[in-house]
Amino acid sequence: MKVGIVGLGLIGGSLGLDLRSQGITVLGVSRRPSTCQIAQHRGVVDEASMELASLKTADVIFICTPLTAIAPTVEQLIPFLSPHTILTDVGSVKQSIAAACSSLWPNFVGGHPMAGTAEQGIDAAQHQLFAGAPYVLTPLPTTPTEALQPVEHLARSLGSKIYTCSPEIHDRAVALISHLPLLVSAGLIETCLGESDLKVLQLAKQLASSGFRDTSRVGGGNPELGVAIARYNREQVLRSLYHYRQTLERLIEQIEEEQWEELEQILQSTQSARPDFLQDEAVE
Ligand SMILES: NC(=O)c1ccc[n+]([C@@H]2O[C@H](COP(=O)([O-])OP(=O)(O)OC[C@H]3O[C@@H](n4cnc5c(N)ncnc54)[C@H](OP(=O)(O)O)[C@@H]3O)[C@@H](O)[C@H]2O)c1
Repeated sequence: MKVGIVGLGLIGGSLGLDLRSQGITVLGVSRRPSTCQIAQHRGVVDEASMELASLKTADVIFICTPLTAIAPTVEQLIPFLSPHTILTDVGSVKQSIAAACSSLWPNFVGGHPMAGTAEQGIDAAQHQLFAGAPYVLTPLPTTPTEALQPVEHLARSLGSKIYTCSPEIHDRAVALISHLPLLVSAGLIETCLGESDLKVLQLAKQLASSGFRDTSRVGGGNPELGVAIARYNREQVLRSLYHYRQTLERLIEQIEEEQWEELEQILQSTQSARPDFLQDEAVE
């Protein structure tokens, strides 16, 4: 099997490393010549090019560009595809992308490997990034099984855990556990930066330790990706943020009114619920 990858950054590059280590031939396309050179030098791809035409012999093509470029890339690829070529993407948002890409190319399978780091670009690509992580596939009722199966097989070969659901359910679920934490975490850092007493701010920076590291981590990642997520999953992101605002207001009220028992009840229920969200990890 020959696999094509468009967009040789953190996700596309890491995918190339793992697929090549299984003996699969990987053809890569990226925008900049320097990315293509590094990709070839690091063994991320067998061949790299800036031309989409170079992917015409690929059986499955992963589109790993930023969200804004996914549907335009599908459109530009079409002249070079055989009717059997399977396209899939790795975008963090699925509903708008799956609808647009499936109407352009019926053999399209939406996908989202839920692994990442705070780094970006080809230099951040790493082996085994997806091992043990969820990989969500979001076929539409019209997606052919012959397109879904090879993508599922490749995703499984990365050591990922496969989940299949509709794009809508995916976007609602990741808004809660990925997109909301990103914005809350960014809001946490922003709130700290709003401290006007420079001595306090300086000491806070010096004292910040593992608790702050855990709660702020996802707010310190790729800003372009954060904006794209808010833009492409706007409705579900807003839904979860409004809900979060209500929760914050309830917590503020309980503290203002000194309702310590009610506050403790909430903290007890969050303490017992947290492990359900981290079933496969050691919960501290
Ligand atoms: N980062 C995460 O945690 C994460 C997790 C899961 C899914 N995703 C999804 O994965 C996708 C890529 O994210 P990433 O984190 O890998 O970003 P990234 O590290 O910035 O990589 C994207 C790469 O795409 C290339 N590119 C940009 N526009 C292009 C175009 N029009 N045609 C071809 N190549 C283009 C860029 O390479 P050049 O240097 O050549 O311009 C860039 O290195 C996004 O859709 C994102 O939603 C990200």
